[in-house]
Amino acid sequence: MAGTKYEILDPETGWLDPSIYTDQEIYRREMTHIFGRAWLLIGHDSLIPNPGDFFHTYMGEDPVILSRGSDGSVNVLLNMCRHRGARLVRADDGNCNSFVCSYHAWTYGLDGELEYVPGEQEVYYGELDRSKLGLKRARVATYAGLVFATWAEDAPSLEDYLGDARWYLDMEFNRSGKGTYAVGPHKWIQPINWKTAVDNCSDWYHVPVSHASAANAMFRVLGEPRFTHDRLFQMKGRAAFVNGHQVQYFKMPEDSLAGQSKSIPTATAEDDTAEAVERLGEFRAKSVVLGTHSLFPNTVLGFRLAIPRGPLKTEFWHFALASNADTPEQQREVLRVHTARNGVTGHFEADDVDNWRQVSESGLSGTYRELGQRVNLGIGHTHTDDVFPGALSDRFVSENNHRHFYRRWEEFMNADSWADIPLDPQKATYEGTAGMNE
Ligand code: FES
Ligand SMILES: [Fe+2]
Repeated sequence: MAGTKYEILDPETGWLDPSIYTDQEIYRREMTHIFGRAWLLIGHDSLIPNPGDFFHTYMGEDPVILSRGSDGSVNVLLNMCRHRGARLVRADDGNCNSFVCSYHAWTYGLDGELEYVPGEQEVYYGELDRSKLGLKRARVATYAGLVFATWAEDAPSLEDYLGDARWYLDMEFNRSGKGTYAVGPHKWIQPINWKTAVDNCSDWYHVPVSHASAANAMFRVLGEPRFTHDRLFQMKGRAAFVNGHQVQYFKMPEDSLAGQSKSIPTATAEDDTAEAVERLGEFRAKSVVLGTHSLFPNTVLGFRLAIPRGPLKTEFWHFALASNADTPEQQREVLRVHTARNGVTGHFEADDVDNWRQVSESGLSGTYRELGQRVNLGIGHTHTDDVFPGALSDRFVSENNHRHFYRRWEEFMNADSWADIPLDPQKATYEGTAGMNE
């Protein structure tokens, strides 16, 4: 709605308006102003290795086809026929030479060009301009095998969009030059608003409470003490917010928990330190571990999507990323860990989803809307650093990233175009040879 200005967070007090989880008008605007503009993680190179391969995925509520052209190029196409909007692809994935609509057989190439229309001369009288009726194409770019797309012609490059969040993400996604491949996704639907799963990526305050049984079972197996509040509050990590993206990181080796925090266990059993030092430099390769993280708007805990399906409905797509260097046994271990923790039947997942449902539904209560939520933990206790990029929390447990996430949400929702959306310049030092795609 033109002229609407959303102020849903008070940065002084941490007051947060719960109607952002339940309001239909807000949801409709999120689809255009956030999911219609941002670079969205939608897939992985390894899902479409050969010419003609396609993978069906989503940009917000828009169904899209990720396809590999005959020349090896990557295409992202709106999966809606330009005639009457019928879906061309009905399968999750596959291989084909063209996309044929099952309503009236308009036929599109792997690049979305409209190649054939039945009766083009006989019933369209030769008056149809096929060159203007290709499938709508999104801009596409990749980082370390991850495929992103945006509808916005005026969006910055993916590299600028990720900004210095990549300084942290590299340690998980770019440590090895051997690459990764995606397994999955597991898919399931929960009655929650998508944002609650995203802001929770920086919420360690709940871990000793909500995950007490799962965490303590895990630590018992590892021979470590129970995960108490005391133990949590001693943790040496920090929360960092960089260009819209949330990161929790740990500085090694003081923190013995760091190795347990990795949400995507891609590391091989072999010592890969030498290669990591070459790619990322000594400091990042040996001293920093990426913990929980999310990319704006809806990537959570690594390669996992929280796809909106309505204000109170979210479809999760959970992928595991395995290393191309892993042995079959190591690949099985990656899958086992994913399934046990945050897959659809994961011990941690079941705890989380109940919280997200309660938080989302608080927006239905008129009385509670008057009170509002509080994301005020750690207000005023933040800093910046010459080495670690972003806005940093002074302690590991903080709601600094929650507040930044909802401010970023306001920036997108209130902008008329990308020209109104601020972007932090890249300032971090990238030692080593790893780049966006090498
Ligand atoms: S809707 Fe696709 S050909 Fe008619
Ligand atoms: Fe959790």
